[in-house]
Amino acid sequence: MDETGARHWIDNRDRYDRMYRPVEDALLSAAAIRPGEHVLDVGCGYGTTTLDAADLARPGTVTGVDVSPAMLETARARAAGDDHVTFVEGDAQTHTFRPPSCDVVLSRFGLMFFADPVAAFVNLRRATRPGGRLAFIAWRSPRHQPWLCVPGAAAAHALGVPVPDLAEGDGPGMFSLADEGRARSVLVAAGWTEVEVEPVTVPLLVGGGGTVEDAVTFLRTGTLGRRLLDGVDVDTGARALAEVRAALAPHTHPDGVRLDAGVWLVRARA
Ligand SMILES: C[S@@+](CC[C@H](N)C(=O)[O-])C[C@H]1O[C@@H](n2cnc3c(N)ncnc32)[C@H](O)[C@@H]1O
Repeated sequence: MDETGARHWIDNRDRYDRMYRPVEDALLSAAAIRPGEHVLDVGCGYGTTTLDAADLARPGTVTGVDVSPAMLETARARAAGDDHVTFVEGDAQTHTFRPPSCDVVLSRFGLMFFADPVAAFVNLRRATRPGGRLAFIAWRSPRHQPWLCVPGAAAAHALGVPVPDLAEGDGPGMFSLADEGRARSVLVAAGWTEVEVEPVTVPLLVGGGGTVEDAVTFLRTGTLGRRLLDGVDVDTGARALAEVRAALAPHTHPDGVRLDAGVWLVRARA
């Protein structure tokens, strides 16, 4: 994720947290953190899962690691004064975690961005005590993401272009672990055992709820919206957004626009 992507997350923090609430609930339930445990939150971003894990782990500790200084600045400000939470700037693929003995490694969408995924998951296993748990959420493939496909197809149709392929092979990116076989083989190659890759479909509140206009604004500034509409002239962009509004309207509920999202809930043991 580049700094523009990080800025979108920081600027829309509450929206992302409302949108991903069902995903985080599934993650924390799978992680089954017990009081006194030591937890590592990888690609912790602005720290929501780190802080929520800390509430479960107390009197244990949670360390959040991330490569983005901007994300960590927000995370540290939110955790100020909490002795049970530490944030570390580093690449989780290579960072030497001290002490190397956490009970639980978890992540909400933070483990798909490694240059060498096997090396990264080896490093995380080494940071975990024998028998310790890994629980994380990663995206399934784009075709399992109506929350992106419905507005994406509407905008692309209006623009007369193909829907951009956000799944760019096996390289680092949102969909790098979308293939179940690949996700499983990366973990096994990295020495994790009892690997379970469970498909979970959640009704996502697009952009965290509100009006159709709120959802459109959120999507316009996200990765797909930027890829489709940055550089497009004003009138054409307005026509494309009108198509997106029309496509989202049938999915509107009292709390906002809801469309399904497909994720993997992955569990393993060191
Ligand atoms: C999609 S965001 C998710 C953030 C957070 N887990 C959440 O759910 O709010 C992915 C995060 O992973 C971080 N990241 C990407 N590559 C990383 C790496 N190699 N080591 C540590 N963090 C990384 C990014 O900076 C970003 O904050």
